[in-house]
Amino acid sequence: MSYEHIVTTTRGPVGIITLNRPDAMNALCADLIDQLCISIDEFENDQSIRSVVLTGGNKIFAAGADVKEMQDKGFIDVYLADFITKGWERVASCRKPIIAAVSGYALGGGCELAMMCDFILADESAKFGQPEITIGAIPGAGGTQRLARAIGKSKTMEMCLTGRMMDVQEAERSGLVSRIIPSGDLLSEAVKTAETIASMSLPIAILAKESVNRAFETSLAEGLLFERRAFHSTFATRDQKEGMSAFVAKRKPKFKDC
Ligand code: HXC
Repeated sequence: MSYEHIVTTTRGPVGIITLNRPDAMNALCADLIDQLCISIDEFENDQSIRSVVLTGGNKIFAAGADVKEMQDKGFIDVYLADFITKGWERVASCRKPIIAAVSGYALGGGCELAMMCDFILADESAKFGQPEITIGAIPGAGGTQRLARAIGKSKTMEMCLTGRMMDVQEAERSGLVSRIIPSGDLLSEAVKTAETIASMSLPIAILAKESVNRAFETSLAEGLLFERRAFHSTFATRDQKEGMSAFVAKRKPKFKDC
């Protein structure tokens, strides 16, 4: 399917979504978010796709929500429409593993969108920020919450109160970015990483993802219990039998997603 503001492609088992509003720094207008949701639905429903990469291309990830679209809205408009809620969280609710590949600016809603993915790979040009305060707003799609969980209170407060951006080294040191990739290699490395994930058992990968995500939703004791039960449930799968017997027999496992 073709879209106005995004481009979707596949590389074997990996679905790639590229944000594509170059004239507006990939600003995340409502139509773009709608198209992003549809593309995620498509990749979720496509059984040949086992992991997803979300990128903005090699110049910019996204400069945030579309300020021109937002500027004249009033409280009642955004409140009644529950602005931001519909659509945006679709990335966070994607069950298949999804990697953000960030080049250039990931600002405001762009940073928030990257943080909705399971992890962030970034190249040397990447810059992360929550500059909403500089335009008289605050983050609205998780910037105060997911960023605080990722990098702690002090840096999050400074970024949200001053609009200061982090370069990629600081973002990696702080735990926002899992790895820095040399410029030019980002997409291929993100796809390679997604292929590695795609080679695992999909239900087991989803269980792992759900378990990690519990860490952000619950107490340690409850999270550990969730993890333990999820771990136990892997023993109900053939892929656990296959994985462990392949290890013992010193051969590669052939997972069947069952
Ligand atoms: C709409 C945007 C935009 C945005 C850039 N543009 N960011 N349009 N919404 N978020 C447009 C510019 O208006 C301009 O259009 C064109 O893209 C190029 O941008 P420039 O500013 O001229 O480029 P440059 O000087 O290179 O600066 C790049 C930049 C800057 C540092 C990324 O554009 C910038 O600071 N952007 C806004 C960042 C921001 O405040 N983001 C938070 C948004 S609020 P024209 O027509 O002039 O060529 C937000 C709230 C999230 O995200 C809440 C939940 C979603």
